[in-house]
Amino acid sequence: MSLTKCLKRKSVATIQMESQQGELHRSLTATNLISLGVGCIIGAGIFVMTGTAAAQYAGPAIVLSFMLAGLSCAFAAMCYGELSAMLPVSGSAYSYAYASLGEIFAWVMGWLLLLEYGIAGSTVAVAWSGYVVSFLHDFGIVIPPEWTAATNLPVKLADGTVIKGIFNLPAFGAIMAVTALLVVGVKESANFNNIIVLVKLTVVVLFIAVGVFHINTANWHPFIPEYNPTMVNAAGETHAFGGWTGVLHGASIVFFAYVGFEAVSTAAQEAKNPQRDIPIGIIGSLGICTILYIMVSLVLTGIVHYSTLDNPAPIATAVDAIGMPWLAFVVKIGAICGLSSVMLVLMYGQTRIFYTMAKDGLLPPMFSKVHPKFKTPWINTIVVGCVSGLVAGMTPIDDLGDLVNLGTLMAFVIICFTVLYLRIKEPQLDRPFKVPFPKVTPLLGMAFCGLLIASLWKTFVMLIPYFLVGFAIYFFYGQKNSKLNNGEVTVIR
Ligand code: ALA
Repeated sequence: MSLTKCLKRKSVATIQMESQQGELHRSLTATNLISLGVGCIIGAGIFVMTGTAAAQYAGPAIVLSFMLAGLSCAFAAMCYGELSAMLPVSGSAYSYAYASLGEIFAWVMGWLLLLEYGIAGSTVAVAWSGYVVSFLHDFGIVIPPEWTAATNLPVKLADGTVIKGIFNLPAFGAIMAVTALLVVGVKESANFNNIIVLVKLTVVVLFIAVGVFHINTANWHPFIPEYNPTMVNAAGETHAFGGWTGVLHGASIVFFAYVGFEAVSTAAQEAKNPQRDIPIGIIGSLGICTILYIMVSLVLTGIVHYSTLDNPAPIATAVDAIGMPWLAFVVKIGAICGLSSVMLVLMYGQTRIFYTMAKDGLLPPMFSKVHPKFKTPWINTIVVGCVSGLVAGMTPIDDLGDLVNLGTLMAFVIICFTVLYLRIKEPQLDRPFKVPFPKVTPLLGMAFCGLLIASLWKTFVMLIPYFLVGFAIYFFYGQKNSKLNNGEVTVIR
């Protein structure tokens, strides 16, 4: 174990050179990239978590929670924009940390991103499974409940008996299907993604357009419910509700709805004009989704009282209240498609980060092996798919969302810090996209993300074993095999 090795940095010039030597096929346009972003952003957050967050924490002020979480992401998005245009490589935040703070920080970032992409992919697959089960149920098709729930998870049946889940087969199957698509190729995946994103956007816009005429403004009063420190939820747990604390807690939950906007940056080596189009993709997709989220949450809490939204399909609940069964059907289709595209982009991002880490020697070389015909990192994709699929099949959705949010927020703080650091240490670098107000924006990003991290403090305990495993892999494998440490790459100290 050596501290000097831990803090070795890759030169920005080396990273820029590596990006020009990529073996991956450059096929993505700015529109593909925005679509990739929207494809990854709109998913379980808006279709599933909004209802729980409104009912349990914020009430109608969930709208403010969305604004707060969106603002935190906006600062981070600008920082991502600057770094991704400067370093258009598929390793994204991992590569930025490698060029600035040193190898150990790059490893930590890679390990955090595994939560953001890999575990988020599993989380979304579980949400997808919930919608599919409910959709099939509408047609009288019933999958045995023990095969649609996480291993050992108690499931209460309609007759009151309680059974234990064996494995969530639909969630596992969904991840396997996405894996197959990603192995075949990014061009095909991008086309599939464009269609699915269109379906998802249509459904969301339709919900807003129809729902706006069914708003009962009484449901918005009081907009910020009075603070109650001892509210008891449906599961019998006591927690604080309402007030600004509720808004903040709500923001730390609905933050999941924004997770993934920077997945666009992992496509840098497959973009036609990355320096211009990656920042457009990141900021454009985040902007579109923020506006839609604010409108959806306003309409949702306007149609029905927030207390009725604590269920796995809150949007469908609101649509049912309007009394339009066809719209409920369409919403479920949209959610199923929407969640599929989120899984696709999250897993795509995860494989590209592992690809870059393996190229650097921090992971075994099989993770960077490119398929001769499909030109995709196929072994890597299959490994990521199997792990994400198993996690999705065996783990309950509870807490996974918080874990993803915490990991992502920590990654955002490092990103904002990296922008500041490089501005001071290497002001001469070519920055095709510049953060506005470079001294203030990254600091605001760190402060806002820090605020959301503070309300997730309970989840920190889960991160400790996760990081212990991560550091063990780094010190026993990564540091020994690192190309930087073995003198195969330009180093700056
Ligand atoms: N933002 C993505 C979602 O809400 C991860 O599903």
